[in-house]
Amino acid sequence: MVLKPWSWLMVMVQTRVFGTTSYLILLVALRWWFSTWFSLQMSAPTFIIQRKYSSFNGYASDLVNLLDELNVNKTIFVGHSMSAMIGCIASIKRPELFKHLILLGGSPRYLDAKGYNGGFTRSEINALFKQMDRNYTSWVQAFAPVAVGMNNTPATTEFKNSLWRMKPEIALSVAKAVFLSDWRRILPKVFVPCTIIQSKRDPIVPNSVAYLHEEKS
Ligand SMILES: *[C@@H]1O[C@H](CO)[C@@H](O)[C@H](O)[C@H]1NC(C)=O
Ligand SMILES: *[C@@H]1O[C@H](CO)[C@@H](O)[C@H](O)[C@H]1NC(C)=O
Repeated sequence: MVLKPWSWLMVMVQTRVFGTTSYLILLVALRWWFSTWFSLQMSAPTFIIQRKYSSFNGYASDLVNLLDELNVNKTIFVGHSMSAMIGCIASIKRPELFKHLILLGGSPRYLDAKGYNGGFTRSEINALFKQMDRNYTSWVQAFAPVAVGMNNTPATTEFKNSLWRMKPEIALSVAKAVFLSDWRRILPKVFVPCTIIQSKRDPIVPNSVAYLHEEKS
């Protein structure tokens, strides 16, 4: 398989058989997330990256391009956190590519709003951006255990390392795309069947958000 240079940072392909059906499984990393493995792509000027990826739309286009390039359709998409929203957006762009969306801990908006509990106030979000900007290393150190939300050292270490692989300025730009986004309006446009999975104790996403997701999509 040859992927065009604009394609993906990392795509792992394997085939698995469940019962009598065989599935092609693609493990896809979001662009710009694994900088140390793909230094070539990281040499692109940061401002280009920040522009294209300051919204989930850039990632959703990547996903659609990848599926087109591999001629994959009837996808069962599994996306966690920001990737859940990216899957929703991609399914609106090209519904025929998707058969089902499995959304784990996704949220269309993290900021509180009138009549909406997103989990974060504006000042909490501002403080978070400030900490990331001031000292990214120590922000990751403090944020990772909170985000993992349980006493699981291997999981926390893995999450920390994946955050540390990002350049701080890119991480900040991604964090802004995540925490300042409001995708609530698109939920009614998601027509591909969804399975919404939300853990009870999620330090980032309140449970009420999952119910909103269910109601609207
Ligand atoms: C869906 O994918 C299969 C397998 O790659 C391909 O043969 C078929 O033409 C595709 N269908 C559409 C509508 O793109
Ligand atoms: C960031 O914080 C770490 C401790 O968590 C410290 O070792 C490092 O010197 C700090 N870096 C800067 C640039 O302040």
